[in-house]
Amino acid sequence: MQILLIYHSQGGNTERLAKACLKGVKKESQVAVYFQRAFDTTLEDILKCDGLIILTPEYFGTMSGAMKDFFDRTYYPAREKEVNLPFALVVCCENDGEGAIRDVQKIASGYRLRKSLEPIIIKEKEIAAREHEVTELGQTFAAGLVMDIF
Ligand SMILES: Cc1cc2nc3c(=O)[nH]c(=O)nc-3n(C[C@H](O)[C@H](O)[C@H](O)COP(=O)(O)O)c2cc1C
Repeated sequence: MQILLIYHSQGGNTERLAKACLKGVKKESQVAVYFQRAFDTTLEDILKCDGLIILTPEYFGTMSGAMKDFFDRTYYPAREKEVNLPFALVVCCENDGEGAIRDVQKIASGYRLRKSLEPIIIKEKEIAAREHEVTELGQTFAAGLVMDIF
């Protein structure tokens, strides 16, 4: 099983959460993980994976421009290849996060990504107290893939 963990971070907060998530994924020994920035991620990266974990900050009420760029670049080619993967989502924000969740989920349904776990919103002030939830999400997602429950 292979997981693509894709993130964007300008200020470092979402990167910190992405690393916390990576830690959780790595607890599942039967899973290999690719840890990548959204700007560096291509359709080929998606095609070699069995599941996708997306971490984005909320900027201006939606996902980061880098994450949107990733979806823009890969949307039609992924549909042609009939990509149908489970995904999990974490949003880092100052005080909201709902717009990013809504917009990623909207794109994901057209993309045919399947929601496997409830998305998590982490406000930046809560990172120290709640990053363990992101580690748990990574571990749960990896274990679920191995057990074929998504
Ligand atoms: C350009 C910009 C727009 C932002 N817009 C929002 C927003 O709409 N809602 C919100 O809750 N936080 C917003 N924030 C705050 C960021 O989501 C927050 O600082 C987050 O921790 C940034 O993650 P990063 O350090 O990974 O870049 C914005 C930050 C920036 C730089």
